[in-house]
Amino acid sequence: MAERMDAYWMPFTANRQFKKAPRLLARSEGMYFWTPEGRQILDGVAGLWCVNAGHARPKIVQAIAQQAGELDYAPPFQMAHPKAFALAEQLAALSPAGMNKVFFTNSGSEAVETALKMAIAYHRVRGEASRTRLIGRERGYHGVNFGGISVGGMVANRKMFGTLLAGVDHIRHTHDPARNAFSVGQPEHGAELADDLERLVALHDASTIAAVIVEPISGSSGVLLPPKGYLERLRAICDKHGILLIFDEVITGFGRTGNPFAAQTFGVTPDMITAAKGITNGAVPMGAVICQQKIHDVFMQGPEHLIEFFHGYTYSAHPLACAAGLATLETYADEGLLTRAQPMAGTFADAVHSLKGLPNVIDIRNFGLVGGIELAPLPGEPAKRAFNVFLECWEQGVLIRTTGDTIALSPPLIIEKSQIERIVDVVGKAIRKNA
Ligand SMILES: Cc1ncc(COP(=O)(O)O)c(C=O)c1O
Repeated sequence: MAERMDAYWMPFTANRQFKKAPRLLARSEGMYFWTPEGRQILDGVAGLWCVNAGHARPKIVQAIAQQAGELDYAPPFQMAHPKAFALAEQLAALSPAGMNKVFFTNSGSEAVETALKMAIAYHRVRGEASRTRLIGRERGYHGVNFGGISVGGMVANRKMFGTLLAGVDHIRHTHDPARNAFSVGQPEHGAELADDLERLVALHDASTIAAVIVEPISGSSGVLLPPKGYLERLRAICDKHGILLIFDEVITGFGRTGNPFAAQTFGVTPDMITAAKGITNGAVPMGAVICQQKIHDVFMQGPEHLIEFFHGYTYSAHPLACAAGLATLETYADEGLLTRAQPMAGTFADAVHSLKGLPNVIDIRNFGLVGGIELAPLPGEPAKRAFNVFLECWEQGVLIRTTGDTIALSPPLIIEKSQIERIVDVVGKAIRKNA
């Protein structure tokens, strides 16, 4: 086995550890994966925050197969195919009012790069070319391309890659366990952390700042929630200074918080949303930037035969992705999945918070169908305790995810109470075992 695994350099993986004891998946359906040996694995993380409707959903499978035989590819530059328009229209309809223009990419990372470029170009075409600075947030994750890691705030993703993009700064993160540990839902304390943007405006001047990008809920850096009033305050400060607000909803989009987008759940409308993952239920790579009409309209000037925005990908609006996307949205609608996290949130919150008091559990965070259980690190070995819990859960037939010493849960939105209980039971036992 080991030799045949040599060629594949795995992403965000402890390659040597993995290849000594591989964790392989061969099949999936509904809430489950199966290993090549036929062992059933309950999916506690929707694959990687993307399989929101559960695995191998028939409408999606069929749509992809049919599309592959009908129109396998269509060039997206100066050409199009009908499903691209249909999907854009449906995504716009799901988005907050006024957010009705959709630019397709192939991943969350590309959606982020697209939004950042769009923001800088937007200011330029409307005559404020000095607005080139991009502001991210500490502990933010915005994918792995250069723009994304520059505005991102996870040190391991940044430190190996040189000086990154120039002209980027960061506001403080919102994680405040001293005041907010074990909050159920949105924490009470920390709205004032949004004022950190005023500090950067005072330092750089608003006339140099194009946009601020934040995740409404930070996922990859450990399920960090927005304190009550925080996003509202960030919106107000952006408005005051003419700064665009980008919500990176790559994980919070498509029902994770109980609405199509977290912008709706938290009642704050950004200027752009970056999305991916749940657009196609993870079945075909796709991302998108959904923006306000006003952003798009500014570009629509000059001679009509000229390209307005010099940006795009060979696979933007790929026919297979569009077919998968349309079938995914239909599946979400058929089963009410984009709001199902609302009725399930209480059950989920009770379950994850029942882990309070277990050895080394130092915080538990939750919202909708997202949970974060933070463990005290093993002395001198950060991330190892949580990784050991992950390995134990795998052995017991439950797939979770860990980031640092936080266990992140984000199950498919079709999950039932008994499955939530099973996940939490297995996680609890694994935490005890690794005390
Ligand atoms: C908030 C956020 N932005 C961007 C990305 C990057 O998406 P992708 O891995 O599809 O490039 C992710 C991936 O987890 C994410 O969580």
